[in-house]
Amino acid sequence: MKFFIDTANLDQIKEAQELGVLDGVTTNPSLMHKEGISGHDNILKHYSKICEIVDGDVSAEVTATDFDGMVKQGEELAALHDQIVVKIPMIEDGVKALKYFSDKGIRTNCTLIFSAGQALLAAKAGATYVSPFIGRLDDISTDGLNLIAEIRMIFDNYAYETEILAASIRHTMHIIDCAKLGADVMTGGLDSIKGLLKHPLTDIGLEKFLADFNAGQNA
Ligand code: G3P
Repeated sequence: MKFFIDTANLDQIKEAQELGVLDGVTTNPSLMHKEGISGHDNILKHYSKICEIVDGDVSAEVTATDFDGMVKQGEELAALHDQIVVKIPMIEDGVKALKYFSDKGIRTNCTLIFSAGQALLAAKAGATYVSPFIGRLDDISTDGLNLIAEIRMIFDNYAYETEILAASIRHTMHIIDCAKLGADVMTGGLDSIKGLLKHPLTDIGLEKFLADFNAGQNA
């Protein structure tokens, strides 16, 4: 399973990269806004900074909602760095843009996926990744994990190469459940990734090992 971090915060991206388990970064306009990044040039510069920190894919989202606008923005983003994956919303012109970029060999991440039908359409249009938002489905009392299972089954039935990027991960158990269901990638916050580290028996066991080691040294 690939691990992406879902943030535009450079310190958190660096920390995840230094942990040695980071495969990429996803961003969206809300995450960029949260870091105070605005304006065309600043946004492009920020994506370049992210690409310098990580080795893997960096999703950069278009803000246009018409085909021509998405193509213009997406081509500019893709030209920034070969790690950039153009993030396209699941709307009608977005599907056309996915096909356009796929034909041109530009990688895409289709975002705001909330149904298996949307994921199927994005895969048919040649999306590199689809991003089902499991946390936001959970928020409205719908089983987000079930969507991952449905998409996995459909993609396996037809051997679609589109990767399932489980997004809107809210906590560590989401990561584990998505891994069980065969999501190709998960994107979550640093806390949810570091949550995988933790077990009280590890802490208790280490404390005992070190106490015994020190007792032996002092004997
Ligand atoms: O980046 C897309 C997605 O992961 C957003 O998550 O927490 O805003 O629902 P969230």
